Amino acid sequence: MRSRRNAKVAARRSAAAPPRTGDSVLPVAPSNPLSSGARRRFLASTAAVAAAGLLGPAAAAETFEPQLGRVGRDVMWLPTPDSMIERLLRMAGAGPQDKLVDLGSGDGRFVIAAARDFGTPGLGVEYDAKMVEYARGLAEAEGVADQVKFAQGDVFETDFSYASIVAMYLLPTLNLRLRPQLLAMAPGTRIVTHAFDMGAWTPDERTEVQGRDGHLWIVPANAGGVWRAEDGTSQPLTLELEQTFQRVQGLARWTDLATSLREPRLSGNRLQLAYTDPAGELQQLDAAVEADTLRGVLRSARGERALIARRVGEAPAIGGSGAASNEEMQAAAALLGEW
Ligand SMILES: C[S@@+](CC[C@H](N)C(=O)[O-])C[C@H]1O[C@@H](n2cnc3c(N)ncnc32)[C@H](O)[C@@H]1O
Repeated sequence: MRSRRNAKVAARRSAAAPPRTGDSVLPVAPSNPLSSGARRRFLASTAAVAAAGLLGPAAAAETFEPQLGRVGRDVMWLPTPDSMIERLLRMAGAGPQDKLVDLGSGDGRFVIAAARDFGTPGLGVEYDAKMVEYARGLAEAEGVADQVKFAQGDVFETDFSYASIVAMYLLPTLNLRLRPQLLAMAPGTRIVTHAFDMGAWTPDERTEVQGRDGHLWIVPANAGGVWRAEDGTSQPLTLELEQTFQRVQGLARWTDLATSLREPRLSGNRLQLAYTDPAGELQQLDAAVEADTLRGVLRSARGERALIARRVGEAPAIGGSGAASNEEMQAAAALLGEW
């Protein structure tokens, strides 16, 4: 998973507190996003895909045959190998109850595989009208036309907030531009990407399939702020939580005592943490964040009891929910050159 490179990039990212920026710093022209060197490496890395015959017999039967590297709106078309698609859908726990959206769906293989192999209905959003038509033909050939849709459109102008799984194989800078929208989705939404990550929003899980990187994020609930609870001890408990993306840290506080939280963890709307209470007991909380209520169970060596806490005041914005910084954008662009 190219961890040394990632460490280098991470080190660069954290080197300074960066100013805010907009799209104008995007380092690439819309229709030719890679430098010629990076483009060659990008194409070379997918040569195996073509060699493996991933374009398939159904595609071959069509009059229009897309070529690898076909110029797209913000990034060229290259397909995700089937093995990576399957792995990412497994990591996302895809099933018939989900709704998948593939942002930049190309020939539609991600959406088609989800419907065919996981029973997951889906939408592919693709700027290239010819690819949209082509994907519809493939869906027909695969017998999933009634479960999938392909829409011609720009991913930056599409409402995909209803999806429970979002798939992307775009570019690092494009992932960052979409990040605020993705982080604002319903808690528990799963986002999977082939190849590129989302900068400071570290994935919940990384995978490597035949030398290629894949990632999973689970959109976190907003657990930040001050929560008041009665935990059954003599003094009322306050939890003070700070959240950046899905990472949470903070304090448990009583009248004249405070203590840091052990290994707080947030996955979707599930919050788990532990602390030593004023009596010296280790308390382990397993709770659901339901808007401004925290509802769960406190377990200790003495047994378990229910805990309900209410947020005091407004929920603060999740750290990282704004636009990516200039420096993060530049680090993402530099990543392409190293790829
Ligand atoms: C690298 S391919 C990935 C295709 C497919 N998601 C997969 O994983 O096999 C990226 C696709 O995004 C499309 N695309 C590029 N910019 C887009 C935009 N702004 N809106 C919609 N589609 C876009 C390209 O035409 C291309 O088909």
